[in-house]
Amino acid sequence: MRVDLEQQAGIVKTKTEIQPIDFVWINGQVTSWEEATIPIMSHALHYGTGVFEGIRGYGTNDNLLLFRLHDHFVRLLESARILDLECKYSEIELENACLELIRSNKLKEDCYIRPIIFVGFSGINLGFINYPINTAIIAFPFKTYFGKPGLDVCVSSWTRTYDPVTPPMAKICGNYVNSVFAKRDAAKNGYDEAIMLNSVGKVSEGTGENIFVVKNGMLITPSLGSSILGGLTRDTIIYLSGRNRIRVIEREVARSELYTADEIFLTGTAAGIAPVISVDRRPVGNGKVGPVTERLAKAYFDLVSGRDDFGHSDWITKVY
Ligand SMILES: Cc1ncc(COP(=O)(O)O)c(C=O)c1O
Repeated sequence: MRVDLEQQAGIVKTKTEIQPIDFVWINGQVTSWEEATIPIMSHALHYGTGVFEGIRGYGTNDNLLLFRLHDHFVRLLESARILDLECKYSEIELENACLELIRSNKLKEDCYIRPIIFVGFSGINLGFINYPINTAIIAFPFKTYFGKPGLDVCVSSWTRTYDPVTPPMAKICGNYVNSVFAKRDAAKNGYDEAIMLNSVGKVSEGTGENIFVVKNGMLITPSLGSSILGGLTRDTIIYLSGRNRIRVIEREVARSELYTADEIFLTGTAAGIAPVISVDRRPVGNGKVGPVTERLAKAYFDLVSGRDDFGHSDWITKVY
């Protein structure tokens, strides 16, 4: 019964989603995928003591463009600081490592890059004093996170973690257990994604995306104090809205505003700009992707694929 439900919800997959790739970067070395293994008693595996990033590469006719590479490594090291992990590499060293890795793998197609800093093998002390801190980068071909043009979402019964518990502002591995609870419930109930409320019952974010509501031509998004990750896609959309003369308000968002929104979309590196067409089975607006979402999604795609830099050429890193 359990397996049936999971299969219906697409949770049990018969094939692995990510294919092994030739090389991985780990602790300063480009190493083969097969050799890049970690001890079974690695602290991070047991306690979630790691921080990570998700970066996208977009293949063009003659190059591969990485979006906001520097900002992702800045956020990675900020997450590490929050978890009190000491990484021995600087942002610039990690950016160079990332480029070296992608070139070693000769990756030219759309891809996803996963840097991770994590506590390694030493013992079971939760304080991990003097334990090894490992840094790795993995890059692999990747197209889309949601294979659907419009998402049916629910409001989750799980509360988003919050700063005094495990800070959502940091991409801490263990934080994602909170997202997993919400995501699996949503999938089993036939939804594409869950929207989580924070500890005071206001809208926070999706399990791996930020959320924007469109109302009367304006954008409304939960503020950084609403238990969200400060998403780089969120920041990019706020910037592009300015360029498109669309007003953005960052504030607390009530659950009921999701039911009266004209449009809703989610933003994330993996998800891109993902329109939401229903919340708790209630159609958003007319139940179709709206014009503001369409306009911003197009601008975002033009930006990441190098068609228009909208005054931010520093956001694009050419690999070759
Ligand atoms: C919980 C959470 N919120 C929001 C986001 C969106 O952040 P970004 O746009 O930087 O990918 C992510 C993805 O990293 C996430 O995991």
